[in-house]
Amino acid sequence: MSLEGDSAAEVWLKVVSKNRKRRKTPVFSCSGEGSIDAHQHSAAYIEKRVIEAEKEVEHSVFYSSFLNSLNLSLNEVGSTIQVILCYGIGSIAASVTSRFQLALVLLLKKRFQANVSVYDPIFSDLDKVLLNKFDLHVIAGPNNVKPEVNAETLVIFPHVPKELIENFLQVNWQRNLSKCYLLCNSFSKIREDNLDLILQKNYYHLYQAFNFHSEYRISNNFRFKDVFNDLSIHIFSTV
Ligand SMILES: C[S@@+](CC[C@H](N)C(=O)[O-])C[C@H]1O[C@@H](n2cnc3c(N)ncnc32)[C@H](O)[C@@H]1O
Repeated sequence: MSLEGDSAAEVWLKVVSKNRKRRKTPVFSCSGEGSIDAHQHSAAYIEKRVIEAEKEVEHSVFYSSFLNSLNLSLNEVGSTIQVILCYGIGSIAASVTSRFQLALVLLLKKRFQANVSVYDPIFSDLDKVLLNKFDLHVIAGPNNVKPEVNAETLVIFPHVPKELIENFLQVNWQRNLSKCYLLCNSFSKIREDNLDLILQKNYYHLYQAFNFHSEYRISNNFRFKDVFNDLSIHIFSTV
């Protein structure tokens, strides 16, 4: 069974199919919401999967190349990371992709001894219990969709809609962006995939930011190709 290059859900499906003759609930990949694990699992089961995912990410070539890109961006700014904010990670209980993205967040939390806050309107009560168990602060919604940054902050927006990035840039435009490392959908890919006119009209700050940021692409060399694809770290010179 070749697992190389599969999506997280496809591999999960293959492994489960091999181990169980009959399945009651289907597992499917849902674009936009990550690879969905449609089974109902206990908190203990998901916690175990996240810990396994953390170990796998930690020992992957992906993580070494990720740290390399992160260090290059930190060196350019000459700074470190005190706080991590993560918006739009998805449901840990329901998405295999989200579990691997959480694994990366947990590794970075340990590495930088950073305080981590997370928010996604999709979080279930089970997600919140799990995230608290991992010592992450779950931001209460629904009014926190525009995070303001006050310290050296790694802001993680994994595969979120452009509106969120635009809101974030707008709120932090004047003075705070120089303190941010923004890990999100690659700005150069956004520019490639969208008409300048539309970006200029609907995503004014994102469009302006194209002119004063440096971008460090994240190699998509993790075992699952739908977890860390199309992401870059962006840093900003003064607006
Ligand atoms: C395309 S999904 C990405 C999920 C996961 N990170 C992945 O890569 O599969 C976008 C996520 O953004 C979340 N989202 C939408 N509006 C948001 C908001 N205002 N603040 C934080 N997250 C939001 C959605 O609930 C969803 O989980």
